[in-house]
Amino acid sequence: MIEATLVLVKPDGVQRGLIGEIISRFEKRGLKVAALKMVRIDKDFSKEHYADHVGKDFYHGLEEFITSAPVVAMVIEGVNAIENVRKIVGTTEPKAAPLGTIRGDFAHVSYEYADKKKMSIRNLVHASGNKKDADREIGLWFSMEDLHSYEGANDKHVF
Ligand code: CDP
Ligand code: MG
Repeated sequence: MIEATLVLVKPDGVQRGLIGEIISRFEKRGLKVAALKMVRIDKDFSKEHYADHVGKDFYHGLEEFITSAPVVAMVIEGVNAIENVRKIVGTTEPKAAPLGTIRGDFAHVSYEYADKKKMSIRNLVHASGNKKDADREIGLWFSMEDLHSYEGANDKHVF
């Protein structure tokens, strides 16, 4: 039942100084940071990470956006971590994202606006969508020795 999922603070989150705020949302919920690094990815890596989206209308803008500045990549662990993290992150379109979620609290634009401006939706965070994606994405971004297993206070008080 304990899962691991890949989270990225995207370039807008890094450039807006929201790295700490975003990571703390996961920590405060009792989830554990198992790996962490800052990387500037290139277009080839973007195509691997977003393999399912290559060729879609929004892919070109997404690639431009995700390669425009560094991202902070992390592995987050916890009970049903994949679903729980997606819940903390909120829905893809910030306009629709509920308040209390990262995308709902720190962004607001609509698909319509982003499409009109021909830009990618700046929604601060990436989080794996399901178990298969999580396993693939963690393997793409991190090697085994980057993944840390350690005892945290939450192991006693939350799990
Ligand atoms: O990130 P999430 O899993 O919520 O959404 P996705 O459907 O997997 O799309 C990946 C990313 O592409 C989104 O987070 C947006 O940044 C971008 N996107 C966009 O700019 N315009 C769309 N119509 C759909 C996605
Ligand atoms: Mg996705």
